[in-house]
Amino acid sequence: MKKFLIANWKSNKTITEARQWAEQFSTTQFSAEKTAVIVAPPTPLLIAVREGLPESMSLAAQDVSPFTAGSYTGAVAARTLAGLVSYAIVGHSERRRHFGETHQSVAQKVTQACSEGLTPVVCVDQDYVAEQAAAIEQELLSKCIVAYEPLGAIGTGNNVSVDEVTTVATSITANFGEVPVLYDGSVKPDNVGEYLLVSDGVLVGGASLDAAEFAQLVTQAEVRLQK
Ligand code: PGA
Repeated sequence: MKKFLIANWKSNKTITEARQWAEQFSTTQFSAEKTAVIVAPPTPLLIAVREGLPESMSLAAQDVSPFTAGSYTGAVAARTLAGLVSYAIVGHSERRRHFGETHQSVAQKVTQACSEGLTPVVCVDQDYVAEQAAAIEQELLSKCIVAYEPLGAIGTGNNVSVDEVTTVATSITANFGEVPVLYDGSVKPDNVGEYLLVSDGVLVGGASLDAAEFAQLVTQAEVRLQK
């Protein structure tokens, strides 16, 4: 199975900064057979980043509307994103905390993403793996990538141990089936290798904002995958 390396820029960067990042990152070498490198910029910057990156790199949306296209001011429908991105992150802990997302609304986003052929990247903490899986339409569970996102590890430098990732990955596959399981929380170039030993990839926040640092992370991942 390919390893997923996802750069989540969150609510950062101007269009000029996005173009500079893409230009700087675009020369990074990696094996597209072994690794999926995916960038998730803020929605208005998607086109600028797409234009600056080679075809071998994919894009993700950081969120998607729980509704179909229509009269939902401010929402970005899966139909609008299709053709621009291949993946949609849903249920990130910051969306749950600051925007009141629930297991049910995250499940609706999974439905919308899948209806337009986007792969949902569902973020879960260990406490609600089962509840989140139960809210998602049964036949869509196998279409998800699931990111284990321990709340205390996001942006703090307090990584969880690889043993804990293994334990929670077991719980994720028990509830979702044999889906790719990613780890998410303070992943850096110097620790990505150990997480790739026990997961199918990583979601990277802070260490993805600087193109050189994310390139270094991709390079470290390649080194690990060649061993
Ligand atoms: P972090 O963020 O790498 O800065 O901890 C990860 C995320 O929230 O996706």
